[in-house]
Amino acid sequence: MFRLAIIRAFIHILDLAIKHILLAVSGGIAVYKSAELVRLLRKQGAQVRVVMTHAAMQFVNPLTFQALSGHPVHTELLDVDEEHAMGHISLARWADVLLIAPATANTLAKLSHGLADDLLSTLYLAATCPVYVAPAMNQAMWHKLVTQENIQKLISHGVMMIGPEQGDQACGETGYGRMSEPVDICRRLMAEPVIECLSGIKVLISAGPTREPLDPVRYLTNRSSGKMGYALAEAALKAGATVTLVSGPVSLVPPVNAALIQVETAAQMYQAVMSNAEQHDIYIGAAAVADYSPVLSEQQKIKKHTERSSVTLQKTKDILADVAKLPRNRPFTVGFAAETDNLEYYAKDKLIKKKLDMIAANWVGRDLGGFDSEQNALQVFWENGAKNLQMTDKKYLAEQLISLIAENIKNYEKNTA
Ligand code: PMT
Repeated sequence: MFRLAIIRAFIHILDLAIKHILLAVSGGIAVYKSAELVRLLRKQGAQVRVVMTHAAMQFVNPLTFQALSGHPVHTELLDVDEEHAMGHISLARWADVLLIAPATANTLAKLSHGLADDLLSTLYLAATCPVYVAPAMNQAMWHKLVTQENIQKLISHGVMMIGPEQGDQACGETGYGRMSEPVDICRRLMAEPVIECLSGIKVLISAGPTREPLDPVRYLTNRSSGKMGYALAEAALKAGATVTLVSGPVSLVPPVNAALIQVETAAQMYQAVMSNAEQHDIYIGAAAVADYSPVLSEQQKIKKHTERSSVTLQKTKDILADVAKLPRNRPFTVGFAAETDNLEYYAKDKLIKKKLDMIAANWVGRDLGGFDSEQNALQVFWENGAKNLQMTDKKYLAEQLISLIAENIKNYEKNTA
């Protein structure tokens, strides 16, 4: 069953201007960058309040942040004066956005485990507003499995990551772990309008091709680059959703805030999608899943002994149709149709036969759009409607499709309420 109650509770459009930013600063060399960040945010018209951990105060004196923010800096969880004035609960209520920058490995570990032993970690637990985190640490610490697990856990809880970036580090090493530049963090928070039409919604997206092995060195695949699916993941994140991205083999950098499940074959993609579908509110099947796979995948490299050779193929399981058929907790199901002819006819046929809520149809095999192109156009169909989305960058196209999906969930809700 489609979870209307969840959708009803969370669909809303946020006020575009973020007014109150609560900046929580933990202890790393990048603290000095956060001082500049306060200045930039205020320049954009935001009110900024600052919380510092004890370690952060070892790097920069709170007076710096007080002068830049125009407000006293909060440092203690259990402070009688603070609790009278602006204790952790009032601070959490005041914030439109909680930004933790820099976020050290230790802070991320505490947040991911729900510890609340200082003002910053307690604020995180008390905050009901969107939370952004800008990690900063040594590259080896960033790559450590436990840090990556903590990051994935926070992302799956809806925390949005900004960075880190690659480059020279204060410790003399080079790699990922530099805190994003204040101007980029500021741009992410302020410049982009936050139209959170999918706030609180869990979206599962499949992207990219699958590879069906013939032998250890050869496989059958298609021209999908994953760009459309990855753009949808970015757009859904921007719309406030929690995103799980099931990806076939592609050479794209995954959206840092999505939970990524990498697969290779259609069978693996089937398994990954079906085991996650019931926990998500929306499923978007943007992957180009192989319709057939070899009956036999040879253990050894196939030799060219004969002039002709043939491969017997068998049909793969239809992921999209099986998600749409789920008897319980069925997500709102959006399919794609990639066609070289009769686009509208085949798309509408798939919409009906696979019992989908929506289908986004695109031409493939043409000069512009479709597979591996930076741009695309879509004809979107649903039971009582249709909309053409014009040729544009996949990034913007994805944003339009996500808005349309959010709109259709509302309509669906109205029609079935
Ligand atoms: O990745 P890009 O290079 O950016 O290209 C984007 C794209 C062209 C791949 C994308 O926009 C697109 O059209 N994706 C769907 C491609 C496809 O497989 O279309 P189809 O008409 O063959 O399949 C219809 C739907 O059934 C699709 O949602 C597909 O994911 C799904 N399907 C198909 C077979 C199968 N075994 N399981 C499925 O779920």
